[in-house]
Amino acid sequence: MTSSEAQKRISALRSEVAHHDERYYRSARPEIGDRDYDRLKRELADLELKFPGAARAEGTDTPTARVGDDRAEGFRTVRHRLAMQSLDNTYSEAELREFHARLARLLGREDLSYVVEPKLDGLAVSLTYEKGRFVGAVTRGNGVEGDDVTANALTIRSLPRELKRSAQGPVPDLIEIRGEIYMTFAEFQRINAARDEEGEERYANPRNLAAGTIKLLDPREVGLRSLALVLYGLGACEPAKAGGENQSGYQARLRGWGLPTVDKFWTARGIDEAWAAIGELDRLRKGFPYATDGAVVKLDSFALQREAGSTSKAPRWAMAYKFAAERAETRLLTIAVQVGRTGVLTPVAELEPVILAGTTVARATLHNRDEIARKDIRVGDYVLVEKAGEVIPAVVSVNLARRTPGCAPFVFPDRCPSCGTAVVQAQGEVALRCPNYDCPVQVRRRVQHFASRACVDIDGLGEAMVDVVVEKGWVRGVADIYRLKRDDLLSLGKSVEKSTDNLLAAIEAGKKADLWRFVHGLGIPHVGTAAAKDLAARFGSLEALSQSRHADYIEGKESRIAGIGETMAEAIIDHFNQPRNRTLVRDLVRAGVSPRAPAALAPGTGPLSGKTLVLTGTLPTKSREDASAMIEAAGGKVASSVSKKTSFVVAGSDAGSKLDKAKALGVAVIGEAELLLMLKDR
Ligand code: IVH
Repeated sequence: MTSSEAQKRISALRSEVAHHDERYYRSARPEIGDRDYDRLKRELADLELKFPGAARAEGTDTPTARVGDDRAEGFRTVRHRLAMQSLDNTYSEAELREFHARLARLLGREDLSYVVEPKLDGLAVSLTYEKGRFVGAVTRGNGVEGDDVTANALTIRSLPRELKRSAQGPVPDLIEIRGEIYMTFAEFQRINAARDEEGEERYANPRNLAAGTIKLLDPREVGLRSLALVLYGLGACEPAKAGGENQSGYQARLRGWGLPTVDKFWTARGIDEAWAAIGELDRLRKGFPYATDGAVVKLDSFALQREAGSTSKAPRWAMAYKFAAERAETRLLTIAVQVGRTGVLTPVAELEPVILAGTTVARATLHNRDEIARKDIRVGDYVLVEKAGEVIPAVVSVNLARRTPGCAPFVFPDRCPSCGTAVVQAQGEVALRCPNYDCPVQVRRRVQHFASRACVDIDGLGEAMVDVVVEKGWVRGVADIYRLKRDDLLSLGKSVEKSTDNLLAAIEAGKKADLWRFVHGLGIPHVGTAAAKDLAARFGSLEALSQSRHADYIEGKESRIAGIGETMAEAIIDHFNQPRNRTLVRDLVRAGVSPRAPAALAPGTGPLSGKTLVLTGTLPTKSREDASAMIEAAGGKVASSVSKKTSFVVAGSDAGSKLDKAKALGVAVIGEAELLLMLKDR
């Protein structure tokens, strides 16, 4: 490779890796598996090392020199007292042994002891305790500063508000404790089963769901999903010796203070013992209730850790050994291209069934056209399929040695497989879409969605029945459901009288369903059940929602409706800017749809009923208007001055005289996080 070729490749790899970092850390929706990602990043690092001149010519900003950045809109950023680093990783035993050899050289000794811990597949978090009291949780962010997710972290049951006194070691004055927020397989499956029930798309894997959950703007939503926590790392600590002398002792301290730690770790003398421990972990982890993607090998002694030091992004004293996901080779029988409700074309590989990670795999996602082209996947090929834990199976690569000569590259359809309309690609999107709003598959999917359990829940109008009424031409859009004729339905066959009457009765009764069900049923991009409920509570009718403006959602940079940010606000406004979507609302109302608006909270029923609260200072995530609205919605009263009758003072930063008065009168003072918790049982 010449230097100028290297420079080109470095440039391409940098943007590719940066793109995948963004997908993984910020939107928690990665497009490729860990292994593929690690491979790209490794190729980039190797080139940067081999061609330093070419790398410099491309600038110093490279993803290999920084940790991914998870910071998101809507959170306050907080600086870590001690930076949160990343870890070097490898899939190879030889490289792990090199890691040991390097350390032995660096420290001038062979007798190194290690701790081997499971590497949990979640997202990194730093908890701060001051004098044993929990004061905040911050994500890794860019390593230097992260998002304040305290209110969301407080929904985690195993997170102690106070550290216990312990014989293992004194509670420090101040300590940053690092660990991982994750979701168990059981919880992941519970949520996905509920999504199935409601006809919503499944989440891909527990890590992405955990990462997405901790970044929800509404802690009440977070509380509906149960997150878990494990702690293993030390950040800033005062006094320094309160962290102990080594990693194994620190683990014992964490446990003594009442914090959740890894179920099992090994202490190993030398790298052979560490390697044996990794093997044992690999056997055991299949029975763990959570996802592990590797082992972390750490020098046990803190003194030696300090001596070994760190590079700009990772410690020299630790290495992650990653377990490869299970893979198998099988034949690709065909590529089916499916059309979704919004017209997106998704290619799916239909495979000769093969057993992988304990389940039979017959289908795998192919993501999109570019992905098929990049991997040059052809029908009839033998492909390598991978499945890691709960991840949807994916086609990793093609076994070219087994390719049938003459087998042709896959030609992605340039017309919709359902209606034949030429597909389009929106700017900045990888997905191809069928732009025909009247495309029969899209009509079917829209009507199915509207009638599904997650939406208006019309009994008797399941997927099969929707197919029939659309096929017959009786239903061309959602509003036609209300124009179905008894005689038409009776023509469907003998003895359908009873089911027809039941269906018509269900349609009629459904006209008075809860407003949020209709809001969800409209299929506005990004609006799921949670947002639909918030919108229903705020607007009270479909007409009001369809006439909403940007200012109803966003004021300056602040969101005015908890849980609804800029992206969703824009999607809603775009949606109703299209005449046909406004027409649908009108048609529904004309057809006699009169949704049940959320009842104003009956007096004396909210979790804050009878309570008077006073707000003071700047709250970390909520504006004062939002906080007031939430308190009132929960039955509480918001007063402007503190008296003996005040139930709570909610204090943010820079709180002034009201806080002093509360203290003088002995009125309870809480923070935003506690307020949000109280509201949780709304
Ligand atoms: S130690 C200085 N131990 O894996 C970095 N990390 O891929 C020390 N992780 O950022 C990290 N389990 O979020 C450590 N037992 C464990 C871990 C662990 C999971 C995560 C952590 C880290 C990432 C690196």
